[in-house]
Amino acid sequence: MIILIFLLLFTITCESSPNPTIFEDINRHQEEYVQRLKEWVAIESDSSDPLKREEVIRMMHLAAERLKELNATVELVELGSQKLYGHDVPLPPVILAGIEKDPKKPTVCFYGHLDVQPAKFEDGWSTQPYNLTEKDGNLYGRGTSDDKGQVLAVLHAVETLQKHELPVNVKFVFEGMEEVGSNGLFTLVEQRNSTFFSNVDYIVVTDTLWLSNKPGITYGTRGNCYFFVEVQGARKDLHSGSFGGVVHEATGDLIFLLNTLVNSSGHILIPGIYDAVVPPSEKEVEFYKESEFNAAKIKRTFGIRNFTYSAKEEILMRRSCYPSLSIHGIEGAFSASGTKTVIPAKVTGKFSIRLVPNMEPSVVINQVTDYLKEKFAERKSPNHISIKCVIQAKPWLSDIDGPLYLAGKKAIKKVFNTEPEMFRIGGTIPIGSHFQEVTGKSAMFLGIGGPDDAPHGQNEKLSRYNFIEGTKLYAALLQELVSL
Ligand SMILES: *[C@@H]1O[C@H](CO)[C@@H](O)[C@H](O)[C@H]1NC(C)=O
Ligand SMILES: *[C@@H]1O[C@H](CO)[C@@H](O)[C@H](O)[C@H]1NC(C)=O
Ligand SMILES: *[C@@H]1O[C@H](CO)[C@@H](O)[C@H](O)[C@H]1NC(C)=O
Ligand SMILES: *[C@@H]1O[C@H](CO)[C@@H](O)[C@H](O)[C@H]1NC(C)=O
Ligand SMILES: *[C@@H]1O[C@H](CO)[C@@H](O)[C@H](O)[C@H]1NC(C)=O
Ligand SMILES: [Zn+2]
Repeated sequence: MIILIFLLLFTITCESSPNPTIFEDINRHQEEYVQRLKEWVAIESDSSDPLKREEVIRMMHLAAERLKELNATVELVELGSQKLYGHDVPLPPVILAGIEKDPKKPTVCFYGHLDVQPAKFEDGWSTQPYNLTEKDGNLYGRGTSDDKGQVLAVLHAVETLQKHELPVNVKFVFEGMEEVGSNGLFTLVEQRNSTFFSNVDYIVVTDTLWLSNKPGITYGTRGNCYFFVEVQGARKDLHSGSFGGVVHEATGDLIFLLNTLVNSSGHILIPGIYDAVVPPSEKEVEFYKESEFNAAKIKRTFGIRNFTYSAKEEILMRRSCYPSLSIHGIEGAFSASGTKTVIPAKVTGKFSIRLVPNMEPSVVINQVTDYLKEKFAERKSPNHISIKCVIQAKPWLSDIDGPLYLAGKKAIKKVFNTEPEMFRIGGTIPIGSHFQEVTGKSAMFLGIGGPDDAPHGQNEKLSRYNFIEGTKLYAALLQELVSL
């Protein structure tokens, strides 16, 4: 019995021994970390609003200062300007930074973003969105989870390790345009492939959430093809009293077309669209079956009446390993409150298809175009249609048996004493696939946000627990990578 207890104690000590001083150090500094997050959240770095662009730029400079305090070499790469609502608006600089002590050690590059989605108290927030407020263990504020809190957790992890010993070289790519499409960053990655990225071994993207309350690692994202289908009827809007019944209406044609895309259980009706889909592996199906994803809770939170699938793993796989088609809106159709008896001359339907491996955007575009033209011909309307694909992003899938993933799993085990949930996400983060495709290095999405953080919604939050334990997670990851 004594031996057993001894053994047990020994095992426990061994399990938790590698980082005690570093973890304690992180615990001791947590008030300071929360205070810094409050300062960062207070900057309204909303990249979608040209009037807030100076704030995004200020945010980038603040982060650069923080990196300099860590003795990083910091470059603020200027990317020129963009046209927004007819005005020339400066693009915020991208931060390329590094702390490189020993070229023999591996180099890990962290990607994160410091811009945020718009947020107004009037949208239904319970607190001021840019005034970080702690309630019941949660830190509420725009950008806490997406992605300022996660970026700060990385910096705090590096800062803490530095006080002891930084086990690997680290690099940072932080941008301020993620929420509106990462303008300029894709080209920058290509331009710096043989310089900044040449010694990078691993890429860690912080911009992601866990699937449940268990820590998780994301190894795949869906791509996206976003379509505009425009139907042009008469040259002018017409009065339905004068022309109703004697013209072919553009809106009716468009609704007919939109209604041919997907059936009511979510099956896409475009011929050939599923041909290239690689179904999830058996191992993946197991991941999803074991997941602690709580469908009932998600239904309650969002007021969803029913999913199109009932098994938890089917819901998870359908939204991440299979394509989906969603209809987003109709531009040009009457949409204000009240009544108007117009026949719109031109309407544009907007829908998108999320892509999975091995779907190719160029193939999907042809399939959609051919199908819509064929359907439109069946309608026998003299109106004119045109189909445009305005966003093309490829899906991404990584090798989960590689060293980066091994280190990620070990780090999670060390901090949370549990196996991670491994999953793909249904959303599109094109920069992840771009990093991997251009640099040829392994990329992993390791975030610290919880499943109910509401990143783009009202009352976005990050729990204090996730923020602090997440800081330990990034520290542990860097330690695990050196021991590989
Ligand atoms: C940064 O460098 C200065 C001067 O070499 C040194 O005093 C300081 O401790 C360093 N800070 C960190 C975080 O390594
Ligand atoms: C933020 O909220 C706190 C607590 O509600 C309040 O005391 C403080 O004045 C607010 N700060 C700003 C800048 O609005
Ligand atoms: C980027 O550089 C790596 C070597 O560091 C090379 O293997 C890869 O082919 C380069 N990518 C492109 C697109 O040239
Ligand atoms: C949608 O299409 C799929 C595949 O053909 C079929 O299994 C499913 O029953 C259809 N759903 C409805 C509601 O028609
Ligand atoms: C919810 O959807 C599942 C699967 O599609 C179905 O089996 C079930 O009957 C539905 N429940 C209700 C209340 O509609
Ligand atoms: Zn984000």
